[in-house]
Amino acid sequence: MLTKTKVLEFVFEAIKKLNIDASEDAMSKIAATYTEPQFGDYSTNAALILAKEAKMKPLDLAGQIIENLDQSLFEQVEIAGPGFINFKLKTEELLKGIGKELGKMTSSSKEKILLEYFQPNIAKPLHIGHLRTAIIGDAIKRLLLYSGAKVESDTHMGDWGTQFGYLIMAYKKHGAVDDKIYAKLNAQAEADPKLHDEAKEEFSRLEKGDDENRKIWQEIVATSVEEFLKINDLMDILPFDHHWPESFYEDKMPKVIESLKKKKLLVESQGAQVVNLEDANLGFAIMIKSDGSTTYLLRDMATFIYRAGLGFEKQLYVVDSRQSNHFAQMFEILKRLGVTKDAHKNAHLSYGYISFKGQALSTRKGNMVLANDVIVQMEEKVAQIIQEKNPDLKDKSNAVKAISKGALKYYDLSHNRNSDYEFNWDDALDFNGNSGPYLQYVYARLSSILRKETGKGSVKENVEISATERQVMFELTKFNDMVEDGLKDYLPNLFANYLYQLAGLLNKFYHESPVIKETDKAKKQFRLRLVTAGREVFGKGLELLGIEPLEEM
Ligand code: ARG
Repeated sequence: MLTKTKVLEFVFEAIKKLNIDASEDAMSKIAATYTEPQFGDYSTNAALILAKEAKMKPLDLAGQIIENLDQSLFEQVEIAGPGFINFKLKTEELLKGIGKELGKMTSSSKEKILLEYFQPNIAKPLHIGHLRTAIIGDAIKRLLLYSGAKVESDTHMGDWGTQFGYLIMAYKKHGAVDDKIYAKLNAQAEADPKLHDEAKEEFSRLEKGDDENRKIWQEIVATSVEEFLKINDLMDILPFDHHWPESFYEDKMPKVIESLKKKKLLVESQGAQVVNLEDANLGFAIMIKSDGSTTYLLRDMATFIYRAGLGFEKQLYVVDSRQSNHFAQMFEILKRLGVTKDAHKNAHLSYGYISFKGQALSTRKGNMVLANDVIVQMEEKVAQIIQEKNPDLKDKSNAVKAISKGALKYYDLSHNRNSDYEFNWDDALDFNGNSGPYLQYVYARLSSILRKETGKGSVKENVEISATERQVMFELTKFNDMVEDGLKDYLPNLFANYLYQLAGLLNKFYHESPVIKETDKAKKQFRLRLVTAGREVFGKGLELLGIEPLEEM
């Protein structure tokens, strides 16, 4: 299958024959891109980049590159604008490739990746932000797995910290805790410092290993974890490979302090133990507070070092944007400690804030929108739409769930994860717009054609092919490249946008070209093949975003 990466290889071969003394820097700037259909299929900037070092005019160099190019797969290769080279594939090449779009990807590196996402805190409710980290993390994991990367996921639940003082106190007073009791006690403690001291005392007993408190802690954690992990089913999130919660690192912190001391990185500041990162514009990083307690940052350092020790060469954190400074500090200290040779490989995959303007969703605490409320409201709206559009749909309750999840996930994944956005129910559920339900609908339409007839026979080479059909074939060949694009900076929205483009073309295709009713045998055979390939590729794409392809809706 031809891809832009392959086209680039052809270009490099031609350049080699020209014996240009090109710098590595210039070579690395040469790219092949997909271009607008009116210009062809691919385009390269090679001549523009190399002109200076080749001491030639870009247009002349472009001409020479073309002369030395293996053109056997192309119908047309021409110079455009100031020195771009545009390529158009032979349609027969596209026909040959049909059904082979989902080839194995080999481009990704073989390093072991730890992908951390979905890190709720015990005894606190799941809010919309937790849905974001789960949805984004899950899509990235699916894309990575498809790309052939070695990736393992970890849900890093917050099961440790001073809040457990309150939780244990609440448990002792009420025999159980939930987030309501916890919130109430928290509020009471604000007015009553004695309660606060009591909670602190309970936590310190837990830290010291007091049996009773330990048992209570375990019970609270177990109940919460079980509750949280329902998200795997509820939202079709792949199972986590690891469950190493915060408490797992409690006993691993002293060693970090030791190595910080050894490297003379730790200094005292106002009674606290800190690392001075002012020269990196990152302020002071507190490791141990003035009251002797450890910090979130220190625990994260222990976490990183532990995982690195297991052979994870790259660690990715899907965490909201408010923690950017935290991760920047951590990566910087790890570098100074010599733990990470290549600090930039690790990354905080930050995500923005979702707001719900004018919504009647309960915001129990502060501005928090609860995950469950969003899911329930989505299902209600979808059930209503299905009732209007297709009341006889088989297996309706399943479809409602799948469409709701799809709508929620696609809406989130089609936005750049870095941006804040305002949730708009009408857009998320617009069956004709850029939405999950629209994508699922296109898949269902393709499926319904194939329920009538299948497309297994061979395709005649001289079959008449429309411009839209050619575009569909070409768009399908981009699949693996688009996975790669989505993974370059871990921006699943780039891949989501591709699927939306593809959906639009597929939709145009089955509206313009009759399939089952076509009387020309060769055309019909070709179209059935195109529907088959389109359905397969598009379905795989939905799957990579964690959206269920539906046969009917
Ligand atoms: N549980 C934390 C919170 O809700 C997020 C943890 C993010 N992961 C990490 N390794 N720090 O704020």
